[in-house]
Amino acid sequence: MRKIAVINYKGGTGKTTSVVNLAYALSMTGKKVLLIDTDPQGSSGYYLGIKSDKTLYDLIIENVAIQDCIQPARHNLDIICSNEHVFPAELKMGRMNERELVLSKKLQDLYGYDFVFLDCAPSMNLLNQNALLFANEVVLPVSMEYLSLIGVKQLLKNIKIINRIFSKKVKITTVIPTFYDKRHKKSKDIIGSLKRVFPNMVSSPVRVSISLSEAPGKKMTIFEYDPHCEAAEDYYKIMEEIVSYGK
Ligand SMILES: Nc1ncnc2c1ncn2[C@@H]1O[C@H](COP(=O)(O)OP(=O)(O)O)[C@@H](O)[C@H]1O
Ligand SMILES: [Mg+2]
Repeated sequence: MRKIAVINYKGGTGKTTSVVNLAYALSMTGKKVLLIDTDPQGSSGYYLGIKSDKTLYDLIIENVAIQDCIQPARHNLDIICSNEHVFPAELKMGRMNERELVLSKKLQDLYGYDFVFLDCAPSMNLLNQNALLFANEVVLPVSMEYLSLIGVKQLLKNIKIINRIFSKKVKITTVIPTFYDKRHKKSKDIIGSLKRVFPNMVSSPVRVSISLSEAPGKKMTIFEYDPHCEAAEDYYKIMEEIVSYGK
């Protein structure tokens, strides 16, 4: 079971878009996938059109059984949703024993999935520390803006600290250039910088796409909304790269 946190401390870099579409692309190939939304904004569930009575809050704070928090979203794709209650959950977690390991403990008996993805909030919070301690891999979507590189440096630092303190070996395996526009020189410059910092880890880019920005409004993944568009092609390719990385 590959456990992948999709994270970037900056907002709007394409985390939710990437996690939903990569999870769906994997499910299309027959992989069993669980998507866990840890962002109190609950965007992943919204994107897939799933509302759930039981959310990550119930799993973490109310001790509800994990099977009762998991909702089927598509064939081969399940989700644990999040909502605004997850924000106070974080405050309560702060008072728990081994507060950084709460999520790992709750998920320790999870089985039957090939991939578990965590859609993370854009902040350096306790839930994200928990996500990094549960995951073995980090996928980092970076939008083609210079300011995005700041968040990347902070994340690298934090991962180093977590690995040292908790004797973990979580590592960034895939950096996804998002909002790529080949007409803009900065897109190429930023990919160049990323390749220097992350040799062999930068995936093919996701191009700027109107369909991709429309799809969540229809509660559809890009493969359902506009399966032949460039963004569908891009995410399918990145999915294949992620699969081959694991081999
Ligand atoms: N490649 C893209 N082209 C156009 N719009 C995109 C692209 N990727 C994401 N978006 C849109 O940009 C916004 C932010 O993306 P989102 O995935 O929610 O970012 P994050 O989860 O990192 O905050 C959303 O409205 C989304 O639909
Ligand atoms: Mg998001």
